[in-house]
Amino acid sequence: MRRNMHYLVVMFVIGVSAAAFFGFGVRSAKSGKYSTAEIQRGKYLVSTAGGCNDCHTPHVLTSGGLVNDSTRLLSGAPSDEKVPVIPDGIIGSEGWSMLQSNDETTFAGPWGVSFAANLTPDKATGIGSWTEKMFIECLHDGKYWATGRELLPPMPWEEMGKMSDNDLRDIYAYLMSIKPVSNVVPSPVPPKQQ
Ligand code: HEC
Repeated sequence: MRRNMHYLVVMFVIGVSAAAFFGFGVRSAKSGKYSTAEIQRGKYLVSTAGGCNDCHTPHVLTSGGLVNDSTRLLSGAPSDEKVPVIPDGIIGSEGWSMLQSNDETTFAGPWGVSFAANLTPDKATGIGSWTEKMFIECLHDGKYWATGRELLPPMPWEEMGKMSDNDLRDIYAYLMSIKPVSNVVPSPVPPKQQ
């Protein structure tokens, strides 16, 4: 009888370990935390209503006009970007409210010059080290790296931040699935130093 009990306990332990092992295998086969459906939905939101590529993907001029450079998808303003000279007096109440560079990732306005961020999962230069929570908070509160300075225009965080947490989560899932691009985005330039 005692021997039988012993046998049952051993079988139970083996069973639990096998379930944990195979359960873990199934989860990692789903490519991490997010399902393909969530990633696809995030892609849909980014490339349609979100319009994130409009500012965060460098554009190149083709015979068909300016198009996304698919090799640098969502990698932000290129590190070697040369900000074109901004003639005195062109920005202001009598002039223009905003200028945009040819590659569409750099913006000049009364706030100075701002550069679209690298949203790829590159750990050193993109948002690869961000948690999902940080990403959602960044868009809710409009703060650089979620807790830093106020985000500059024209990042439309006030509108984007009103998306549901579920939508923002899917966007994050998609961004974490794209190709990491190493690109150190230049720091913003204050007005008058442009
Ligand atoms: C009209 C242009 C524009 C659009 C559209 C836009 N962004 Fe931005 N975004 C910017 C600029 C410019 C910055 C940099 C602002 C700064 O340096 O303060 C930025 C910054 C960010 C940051 C902060 C990064 C950091 O390092 O703190 C995140 C996150 C972000 N954008 C996500 C998105 C997502 C997701 C979308 C689409 C849903 C989007 N943006 C659409 C222009 C835009």
